[in-house]
Amino acid sequence: MEFKRLTDTITIPAIGFGTWTIGGGDVADTTYDSEDVSAIQNAIKLGITNIDTAEAYAEGHAEELVGRAIGGFERKNLFITTKVSPEHLRYDDLLASAKGSLGRLKTDYIDLYLIHAPNPDIPIQETMKAMDCLVEQKLVKCIGVSNFSVEQIKETQKHTKNKIRANQIEYNLLVRDKGRVTENMESEIIPYCQKNDILIIAWRPLAKGELAKPGFKILDELTKKYNKTQSQIAINWLISKEGIVTITKSTKVEHLKENLGAIGWKLQQEDVDRLNNSFGALS
Ligand SMILES: NC(=O)c1ccc[n+]([C@@H]2O[C@H](COP(=O)([O-])OP(=O)(O)OC[C@H]3O[C@@H](n4cnc5c(N)ncnc54)[C@H](OP(=O)(O)O)[C@@H]3O)[C@@H](O)[C@H]2O)c1
Repeated sequence: MEFKRLTDTITIPAIGFGTWTIGGGDVADTTYDSEDVSAIQNAIKLGITNIDTAEAYAEGHAEELVGRAIGGFERKNLFITTKVSPEHLRYDDLLASAKGSLGRLKTDYIDLYLIHAPNPDIPIQETMKAMDCLVEQKLVKCIGVSNFSVEQIKETQKHTKNKIRANQIEYNLLVRDKGRVTENMESEIIPYCQKNDILIIAWRPLAKGELAKPGFKILDELTKKYNKTQSQIAINWLISKEGIVTITKSTKVEHLKENLGAIGWKLQQEDVDRLNNSFGALS
C-alpha cells in the first residue's frame, strides 16, 4: 500500500474501502450481511486498511458491519473515517451522532470525522465547537469536511482550534469540474486544498464502475500501453496527484485486487495530458 501524509504524525492509505451500498443504501438491508462483512475483512487482509463510512449509509447499518468486520484486527493498524450527516450539525446532535457511530463501529476513536455536507441552516460555529469537544475528548483524531467549497472551508477553519485535515469530494475522470459543490474542482478546490495542506479524498473514483470497463477510447488504448486495466488507470490518474487519496467500493475480491494494481507505477505525463484532454472534451 502507498500512504499519503495527513498530519506530521499520521498517514493514510492512498486507496480506501468505500461502504456506500454496504448493508443497504438509503435504508438498512440485512440480506447480504455476511458477504459484506467478508468483503470488508478481505479488503483489510489485502492491505486496504482505510475504511470510509458514514452514519447515513444504510441508516447506520454500514457502520455496524464495519464494526463487526474489524473486530479481529488490531485497531491501530486501521484508519476509519466516518461522517456526521448535515441534519445533525447542532452541538448536542453532533455529539450524539459521534457517540452513535463509535458504538456501531465498536471502537474508542474515529481516525477522521467529516461533516458529510454543509448545512447553511446551522451556524458552523456551533458545529465546530462540538467537533473540537470530540478532539479534546480523544474520541476523534482528525477532523475534516466533505463536499465543501473553498469559502465554506475558510469559514469552517475560522471556528475551530483544530486544523481541517481533509475535504472529501466527488472527483474522477468523468467528474472534474463541479461535482456536488458549486466551484470547479481542478481550478479552485483542489489547488486551494493542496496549498493549505488539506488532503483531498476523491469519492466515486470509478464513477460507480463506469470507468472500470471498456468503452472510453483513450482508457482502452492505455490499457495496452501499460498492461493495466481501465480501473487501474482511472485510480492511478487520481492517486498519482499530490495530496489526493481515493476510496472505491467493491465487494468482490478480484476487483479489490485489481484496484490495488493502481499502486506502484505512474502514468507518463503525456498520457495524463491525453486523459485530461480527452475526458475534458467529453464533459
Ligand atoms: N462524501 C460523499 O458525499 C460520498 C458520496 C458518495 C460516495 N462516497 C464514498 O465513496 C465511496 C466510493 O464511491 P462509490 O461506491 O459510489 O463508487 P465507485 O467506487 O466509483 O464505484 C463502485 C462500483 O464500481 C464497481 N467496481 C469497483 N471496482 C471495480 C473493478 N475493478 N471492476 C469493475 N467494477 C468495479 C463496484 O462493484 P463491485 O462491488 O461489484 O466490485 C461498484 O458497483 C463510497 O462507497 C463511499 O464510501 C462519499
